[in-house]
Amino acid sequence: MNVQELQKLTESMDGWLTAREGEFLYNAAKNCPKGTVIVEIGSWKGKSTVWLGNGSKEGNSVRIYAIDPHTGSSEHKKKFGKVWTFEEFKRNVKKAKVDDIVTPLVKTSEAASRNWNKKIGFLWIDGAHEYEMVLLDYKIWEPHLVDGGVIAFHDSQDKGPKKVVNRYLYFGNKFKGTGFIEGITYAKKTAGVSMGEKLWNFYVLFLTTIYSFVGKLPIPKPVKIIGNKVVKLLQ
Ligand SMILES: C[S@@+](CC[C@H](N)C(=O)[O-])C[C@H]1O[C@@H](n2cnc3c(N)ncnc32)[C@H](O)[C@@H]1O
Repeated sequence: MNVQELQKLTESMDGWLTAREGEFLYNAAKNCPKGTVIVEIGSWKGKSTVWLGNGSKEGNSVRIYAIDPHTGSSEHKKKFGKVWTFEEFKRNVKKAKVDDIVTPLVKTSEAASRNWNKKIGFLWIDGAHEYEMVLLDYKIWEPHLVDGGVIAFHDSQDKGPKKVVNRYLYFGNKFKGTGFIEGITYAKKTAGVSMGEKLWNFYVLFLTTIYSFVGKLPIPKPVKIIGNKVVKLLQ
């Protein structure tokens, strides 16, 4: 399925991922190197999994491990009460014809990480959003990400993910080439970060700070659209 077809298919799927964010996942999955796998932490009803699966099929057809206990995060439980998303997840993944490449692990990220021994080419973190939980996901899974592999966090302007992203992607020593697409912040793992690469990370942090500040201002939508295009050009 190409990007346009996927946009149409995923429009009706429940979730928070935008079409531009979906396209980012599609391309990251497409570029995932042979001999590695994709790990998704937090699948909900499969909207992001469907983008990942189709992207992977356009590339090296690497397997996607979709980890989620399917009982929702704390905010979902508060809002909806008892949550069970696995049936809809399976339906969506099947509908998008990626069930042959997706392995669902119906457990928490911590439980799924026990005895894990596969190299990860793309690590997508969109599970629980409390700082301690995002930090745990990062600490458990990052060591399995290969050099040259990509890490991405969703809702990276939210307090919990933002703190982890700032500490390890922008100010850490393991990632270069940071960038952001709407709510996603991503970076490439590297054996060492040069001074130039550090400066780039700080520059992107500066851009993302302006982006999120302007996003909160009560300015007309057309002005925001132009602003977004400028930010895209500056990245
Ligand atoms: C924001 S939703 C994911 C949305 C999904 N990525 C999408 O784009 O459609 C967060 C998900 O994380 C799951 N979750 C919560 N705690 C988790 C944990 N410790 N390990 C794995 N998944 C978790 C929840 O069950 C929920 O489905």
